[in-house]
Amino acid sequence: MLLIANGTIINPKTDQMEQLDILIKEDRIIEIGKDLVEKVNASDGYAKSDIEVIDAKGTFVSPGFIDLHVHLREPGFEYKETIFTGSRACAKGGYTSVVCMPNTKPALDSVETIEMLSKIIERDSVISIYPAGAITLGIAGDVMSNHAELIKAGAVALSDDGRTTMNEDYMRAVFKVAKTFDKPVMTHSEDHDITVNYKNAIYPTEAESNIVERDIALCKEVDGILHVSHVSTKAAIDAIAIGKGSNTRLTCEAAPHHFALSDERVDMTSNYSKVSPPIRSESDRKYLVEAIKKGIIDVIATDHAPHEKESKECPYSEASYGISGIESAFSVSYQSLVYSGEIPLQQLIRMLTINPARIASLKDVGSIEKGYYADLTLLDLEANVTIDSKAFISKGKNTPFNGFIAKGEVIMTLHHGKIVYLKTR
Ligand code: DOR
Repeated sequence: MLLIANGTIINPKTDQMEQLDILIKEDRIIEIGKDLVEKVNASDGYAKSDIEVIDAKGTFVSPGFIDLHVHLREPGFEYKETIFTGSRACAKGGYTSVVCMPNTKPALDSVETIEMLSKIIERDSVISIYPAGAITLGIAGDVMSNHAELIKAGAVALSDDGRTTMNEDYMRAVFKVAKTFDKPVMTHSEDHDITVNYKNAIYPTEAESNIVERDIALCKEVDGILHVSHVSTKAAIDAIAIGKGSNTRLTCEAAPHHFALSDERVDMTSNYSKVSPPIRSESDRKYLVEAIKKGIIDVIATDHAPHEKESKECPYSEASYGISGIESAFSVSYQSLVYSGEIPLQQLIRMLTINPARIASLKDVGSIEKGYYADLTLLDLEANVTIDSKAFISKGKNTPFNGFIAKGEVIMTLHHGKIVYLKTR
């Protein structure tokens, strides 16, 4: 048995923070309370030596973080990331469950590919990884995949991430099928009729808001479940705020690079800040932070998009879109949202744990409770951090956050009762 002693537990269901011990047997939490070593010893005869104690005094203990939006690249782009490297990078970021996007090669558009990926995950991953199935074959937008079969094979959501499904009938169809399984459709909102004309990666904000408005309307029409990925603009936020008024199954996420960076905070001509949707204006960034404060944004998701050096060390027009963000997410978020005084720590933890768990219907995770998986993330909120991509476990060192100074870091991650990341001091 393992005892995490004396840490300050953050409970995202009640927002309470209290110094308590957590007793773990195998992969589950079996008890939460004060002075648990003594109690367990006294009550049912466990010898002290049966219990390994981790003294967590001075640290905050969160449920393991959950990211609804990562790109782990396997199968097909193993030179960018693998399940082996990506899962360890996630663990270092404090993440114990992630949803991986289907823009792999082959795409996650068939039962065979999802089953093949599940075997790789079982073999190589140190955390829980759940696939999102593709809405269309090859995420090319032309032919629908078999949504029901993908969900039955293990997809926890459906998405053509990286591309928008422009065909409205396909969107209606996927909303309908996903709803019968109580699964969300996750949308990358980018109006290709607009972006096709933009060689510059910084395409207009309407490209996002047009699709967000369209999908909210289609979802409402067929009574579906919609999760809008990486919201970046004022117009999209406004559409979501209105849409939430009449649809309780509408949720959305924001990425650290969108609420921490803007055209005034980063070199927009650098390939390392090239991402889709693009980093936006300072007024969009401030609007996004306000939306987080108001609770319009449900979750923080990284859109972790690792790329090899060559695809960033090249002319801007040829550079790949994306930021390797899983290992810097907590420090950037804590610094930009909590340490800066915008939101309380409990709200950040809710956006990283219980909210994503509910959206993806992940069982027995996202909270610290008796009977739940022992997925825990230990935080040192006094730590001074300077983001350094050279220290990333991820194969992708592509980040505009290099040199970013932050308070707060992940010092230990437990997945199903096992230590999967421990900061070396
Ligand atoms: O910047 C991005 N990179 N945005 C996406 O939607 C896809 C991602 C990738 O797969 O590299």
